[in-house]
Amino acid sequence: MTTPWWRGAAFYEVYVRSFADSNDDGIGDLPGVTSRLDYLKRLGVDAVWLTPFYPSPQKDHGYDVADYYDVNPDYGTLADFDQLVARAHELRLKVLCDLVPNHTSDQHPWFQAALSSRDDPHRTFYYFADGKPDGSPPNNWRSAFGGPAWTRDERSGQWYLHLFAPEQPDLNWWNPEVPAEFERIVRFWLDRGADGYRIDVASALFKRKDLADVPMVKDPLSGMVRPDPAFLITDQPQVHEVYRKWRQILNEYQPQRVLVGEIFEPQRQSRYILPDQLNMAFALIGVPWDAHAWRQSIEVDMNALRGPGVAPSWTLSNHDVVRHVTRLGGGSTGRDRARAALLLLLGLPGQVFLYQGEELGLEEADVPPEARQDPLFIHTQGHHPGRDGCRVPLPWKKGEPNAGFSVADPWLPMPPGWDEFAVDAEEASGTSMLSFYKRALALRRRRSPWLPASIGWGPAPEGVLTYRRERLTVACNFLSRPVRLPACGRLVLASAPLAAVRDGRLTLPANSAAWLDSVPRG
Ligand code: NOJ
Ligand code: CA
Repeated sequence: MTTPWWRGAAFYEVYVRSFADSNDDGIGDLPGVTSRLDYLKRLGVDAVWLTPFYPSPQKDHGYDVADYYDVNPDYGTLADFDQLVARAHELRLKVLCDLVPNHTSDQHPWFQAALSSRDDPHRTFYYFADGKPDGSPPNNWRSAFGGPAWTRDERSGQWYLHLFAPEQPDLNWWNPEVPAEFERIVRFWLDRGADGYRIDVASALFKRKDLADVPMVKDPLSGMVRPDPAFLITDQPQVHEVYRKWRQILNEYQPQRVLVGEIFEPQRQSRYILPDQLNMAFALIGVPWDAHAWRQSIEVDMNALRGPGVAPSWTLSNHDVVRHVTRLGGGSTGRDRARAALLLLLGLPGQVFLYQGEELGLEEADVPPEARQDPLFIHTQGHHPGRDGCRVPLPWKKGEPNAGFSVADPWLPMPPGWDEFAVDAEEASGTSMLSFYKRALALRRRRSPWLPASIGWGPAPEGVLTYRRERLTVACNFLSRPVRLPACGRLVLASAPLAAVRDGRLTLPANSAAWLDSVPRG
């Protein structure tokens, strides 16, 4: 049996609104993506995941879909999508669409119809419920963006459920018409050439039917009363039937199509990552820069998945989290650690997901409060800074207005000096983050198909991790001072220029990592 294309692949997340702008209106678009596919090919990735590009009022930047069968005019047309896919396939790049099945936009015709009357047939596409006798919402569930998960529909007096923004009403998957609609949507983009889907909040589709209050429990450690973490609102068993059905649909297509679930909790993943359901889910490493914490995080993700060919999909950043250069300390320290982290993860078995701009070493941008747009910022009245800081458009050209992204002001402002990280400048420099990513991805591509799917942790001093994958040894120094280790092989790639193997010893500078090859060049 041949290895499926996605196994061990490098995926690249394109946040469409911020990637490349073809018509200088300050907003990224599909023709912009198409024009930069060569760049992604040169970077060395295998597949591109496009964030939602469908018609949407953009209350959550596309995760509020008003029409699942079209392209938002700001982003282009269906023909632009077709061209993007055609060019990607010419370059042997795969294209994943982002499917948002948990909720629609409040402007979706289904929801508009549902609001029109209590008896409208689309009413049961959503969760509408009566409030409690005291006038409060049907239960105490909270929205992920702050506030109650229910908004009152003034016309009927009932409340509707939204686990995210009020403009994102949750679909009622218990109604069989909802899964039937989504089967059509799944086919639609596959028929247009999509190579699969990233599924938004993949475990959330079905809510517990009793809509019971989340019980409050006393925290045994702090004595504080808080919502019971064991109480499951979502992740109901019926969701697996949906993914089994989608898998059957995908199996009708050749070459193989893929389903990536937005599921982060390792303990959940093994129920979804199965031959008859999803291919993968994200292993997001969000722990602080500490050898113990990283090893534990890696082990938890690796142990969560069992079965032939199943391995984590390593992720350092995405459009929902603070950019990892910043998380890891910011500035040159953050970038040194980000390089080391990349080598640590790229040596492991499994897939990798890169988020646009990390290959340039971008930091979280400081977006002024008046320019912020994220519903998380808006609905928490500014208590949460929101996710705009990781969504600032990419810098393409040094010295040009708006770093060459667009002649018009970009939809989120770029901080001063953003063009220092421009693609053209980094492509011209052999020591840039971009050049380092290219080297690491190219080397991984050449070697990892031959390496086993397991690793063995090696002995290492405190603050250092080493593991071996047959002939490949990976060593990572988390400390702020250099370390010397016994070297079992030839240095093939290091994250810091001063890393070296001499007299059988590997010198690893502060915050750096290296790959060693134990088979002599032959
Ligand atoms: C996860 C997406 O990644 C995030 O950006 C979005 O806000 C929520 N799901 C709701 O769709
Ligand atoms: Ca544009």
